[in-house]
Amino acid sequence: MTKIKSLGVNIDHIATLRQARATVYPDPFYAAKIAEENGADSITMHLREDRRHIQKQDVLNVFKGMETKLNLEMAVTTEMVDFALELKPQDVCLVPEKREELTTEGGLDVVKHFTDIKKAVEQMSAAGIIVSLFIDADKKQIEASKEIGAPVIEIHTGHYADAANLTEQTHKFEKIKNTAIYAHSLGLQVNAGHGLHYHNTLAIAMLPEVVELNIGHAIMARAFFTGLGQAVKDMKQILLSAR
Ligand code: PXP
Repeated sequence: MTKIKSLGVNIDHIATLRQARATVYPDPFYAAKIAEENGADSITMHLREDRRHIQKQDVLNVFKGMETKLNLEMAVTTEMVDFALELKPQDVCLVPEKREELTTEGGLDVVKHFTDIKKAVEQMSAAGIIVSLFIDADKKQIEASKEIGAPVIEIHTGHYADAANLTEQTHKFEKIKNTAIYAHSLGLQVNAGHGLHYHNTLAIAMLPEVVELNIGHAIMARAFFTGLGQAVKDMKQILLSAR
């Protein structure tokens, strides 16, 4: 028996749909409320530099009206660190950002950007924010994250989710599993996310070291057919069955 895993619902794509037509609907605020009412333990929003989906006002609205906790995904830039220091969300997840990417393609290179990331982690930790680093399943990245003093890592599960066949998927899964065990042994909290859907989440949720899963696209896609509340409930059920 492992502990119940937390479900972080990423609502970015509600804003993607709104921005596609420059309308005022659908509003991520209502998505956050529905997600919370149906089992979300936290709400994740990625405020990208190019503002392709979530806008600053969305973050402010959700943070003001929410009952769970906000996990603000952001790049390691002065603008974003200043914004986080002013807002003081409960959690921040630092991610790499490229304008040309469709979504966050890889993990942060903590080894390469050690000094900048360390400074951002220190500033935000001092303000009481719990900072996690979104990294690939890689020993060196874990060791650098630990050295920096980040309390949490989020393992990028995208490579596992995108595996072309079962052999590759098993290989990627083993990597995630070993990374989770290693990070946990160093005292880091282990979260996971990216590309998780209704058929590949259970295995990750069953890893005893994993505390929280952050899931967006699959939940929003299912919501078109079932409604958002049911889509969140269905994912929560998977996490509950992983105990
Ligand atoms: N975790 C992180 C750090 C992410 O950047 C994203 C995508 O914004 C997710 C989780 C959720 O990924 P998906 O939308 O594929 O479920």
